[in-house]
Amino acid sequence: MSDETVKYLLPENRIPKSWYNIVADLPQMPEPVLHPGTKQPVGPADLEPLFPMAIIEQEVATERDIEIPEPVRDVYKQWRPAPLYRARRLEKALGTTAKIFYKYEGVSPSGSHKPNTSVAQAFYNKEAGIKKLTTETGAGQWGCSLAFAASLFGLEVDVYMVKVSYGQKPYRRALMETYGARCVASPSTETNAGRKILEEDPENRGSLGIAISEAVELAAQRDDTKYALGSVLNHVLLHQTVIGIEAMEQMEMADADADVVIGCAGGGSNFGGIAFPYIGRNLREGKNTRIVAVEPAACPTLTRGTFAYDFGDTAQLTPLTKMHTLGASFMPPGFHAGGLRYHGMSPLVSHCKELGLMDAVSYNQVECFSAAVQFAQAEGIVPAPESSHAVKAAIAEALDAKEKGEERTILFCLSGHGHFDMQAYTDFFEGKLEDKTYDEALLQEALSKLPNVG
Ligand SMILES: Cc1ncc(COP(=O)(O)O)c(C=O)c1O
Repeated sequence: MSDETVKYLLPENRIPKSWYNIVADLPQMPEPVLHPGTKQPVGPADLEPLFPMAIIEQEVATERDIEIPEPVRDVYKQWRPAPLYRARRLEKALGTTAKIFYKYEGVSPSGSHKPNTSVAQAFYNKEAGIKKLTTETGAGQWGCSLAFAASLFGLEVDVYMVKVSYGQKPYRRALMETYGARCVASPSTETNAGRKILEEDPENRGSLGIAISEAVELAAQRDDTKYALGSVLNHVLLHQTVIGIEAMEQMEMADADADVVIGCAGGGSNFGGIAFPYIGRNLREGKNTRIVAVEPAACPTLTRGTFAYDFGDTAQLTPLTKMHTLGASFMPPGFHAGGLRYHGMSPLVSHCKELGLMDAVSYNQVECFSAAVQFAQAEGIVPAPESSHAVKAAIAEALDAKEKGEERTILFCLSGHGHFDMQAYTDFFEGKLEDKTYDEALLQEALSKLPNVG
């Protein structure tokens, strides 16, 4: 292959045949999930109102390789394997001595990595005879991805979309409706959780924690309805590992190996997707690839949160998981990377951070948009506001390598495109975008309310 190759492409028959389960390689098991009432470890029966058994089994699985069902691989063919790019034009623009590679997940039908799990979740629910799925969405990427997957498997979907994003991103809602889903601004009057919040605060702009409460409440009420989560849980990160598995093979095609692997982290799914196969390789083969999660400074779960048991939602309906959290009642300020506005973090990512298997950094939104524009002008792809955090960190790494005169190979996950987020870019160009800061007193208050698990 010529030295100037830009895209490293795999044929359809190289779509991975199994997902990678990092639990098999961890030196220490993560803490169990606890029942919100009894504070005892949950059993499969506790999770059954929300998820089909095949997904519950994946949530607690310990084997390393978990087979991807053929119908899921069939749907993956619509866009997978996703391309790996060498960012040659960005490297030139930066004048860096580093090599920058990015795994581009924006080629999926809905424009992000999210269908890697929505397709699997829709498949398992269909197999279990489920008729309808409920879910939350922040910026709308997950809602669109579940709507897309559900349309292929003939399932209905109700999406509770965080109100601030519902107002900012009307075309995301239109896309969900195009795929046949119903999209409701959250908090809504359709649930007890939503009504209670609106009574206390009619102007509430919503959060992922609230939207999850609404979706969970409705799913738990009906036998033919289950809940689907777009991030955080073990099975979601498992499904996303196709990103890292493919990327590793493509890096070999490029005759390169990553010194540092970067992903933005909201609930941790695209990050886990690209990073876990590398963390596993570090653990099994004694390699030293540096792993970096990037989060928004306005919602700094991994860098400022407490590692403790907490609820996944605001109304305290979900089981308790041990994770980095800002407190389930914490309301992050309304910034543009809606998919990163979550108080908690994947328990598996949190566990890896505690074990010292990875680092985390945070950046403000203005510097991330600035990096995204620089990336778009060099590479042509407009990053999603969430992905811009990974872009910013990758550029910072490349400039650091340049300053030190080092060769460094950087791999990052470009988790989605920003075609539905152009209002955010317009705000940035007009100087209307501000760096939001969270209220330290409110953060301390939310942390003081963490559940006591004894
Ligand atoms: C494009 C994109 N990247 C990243 C994220 C953050 O989610 P996660 O941390 O689960 O990858 C989102 C969430 O909506 C997203 O839409």
